[in-house]
Amino acid sequence: MVQLKTNAEIEAMRPACQVAANTLVMIEEYLKPGITTDEINQIVHDYTLAHGGIPAPLNYRGFPKSVCTSVNHVVCHGIPDKKKLKDGDIINVDVTTIIDGWHGDTSKTFFVGKPKIRTQRLVDVAREALQLGIDVVKPGATLGDIGHVIQTFVEKNKFSVVREYCGHGIGRVFHEDPQIVHYGKQGEGMVIKEGMVFTIEPMVNAGKHPVKVLNDNWTVVTRDRGLSAQFEHTLAVRKDGVEILTQPTT
Ligand code: MF3
Ligand code: CO
Ligand code: CO
Repeated sequence: MVQLKTNAEIEAMRPACQVAANTLVMIEEYLKPGITTDEINQIVHDYTLAHGGIPAPLNYRGFPKSVCTSVNHVVCHGIPDKKKLKDGDIINVDVTTIIDGWHGDTSKTFFVGKPKIRTQRLVDVAREALQLGIDVVKPGATLGDIGHVIQTFVEKNKFSVVREYCGHGIGRVFHEDPQIVHYGKQGEGMVIKEGMVFTIEPMVNAGKHPVKVLNDNWTVVTRDRGLSAQFEHTLAVRKDGVEILTQPTT
């Protein structure tokens, strides 16, 4: 069941979405060789509380930390730990903030030090894939239109789209209907309506698309151990288009 949001409810989601977005702006300067993902977790946790939010990942279905940090071949749901970032790594920081019971969910992949050309290309393609998906969102388009444009662009660039994890409706609940898959066919799937609020969050692999979950029951990695990059925004469908609720203002 898809819960359509009223304009007032969309307004109520703004603070959570804004703090999540600004957290990603704030964290960038810390993402240098030598920092641990535990330290990143602590900085995100403290910033969230200081801005009146609650970090949604903490204790969500048993997730032990306040943010997901997914390094190199980790696709998503990486758990912060004592490992240090090193020059040439990529890291996705996925922030979800709760304010007044509403969720805002956004992520970005950052370079640590200087990337290789091919790594740069992977991250650019993941970022552009999200933007192309956003660009098709409006009332009357379908969810298949989103998946189609993302899959087509990623595969044209000789990368692959992860199948097992998808975008999602969001509001008072972290993950609600509909599911937003990042592959598909034009014109298929649910018709998009004014008042839908959902994320798009394509995971793009440098190699093949299959993934597996590690024994910690959270960390998702590429089966071929190739790199993976991801970007995510929370979006609201408006009368004549789309609004990115997690666009940073700082
Ligand atoms: N933020 C992730 C998403 O985009 C979900 C993380 S669930 C957690 O949907 F428990 F790992 F935080
Ligand atoms: Co999400
Ligand atoms: Co997220």
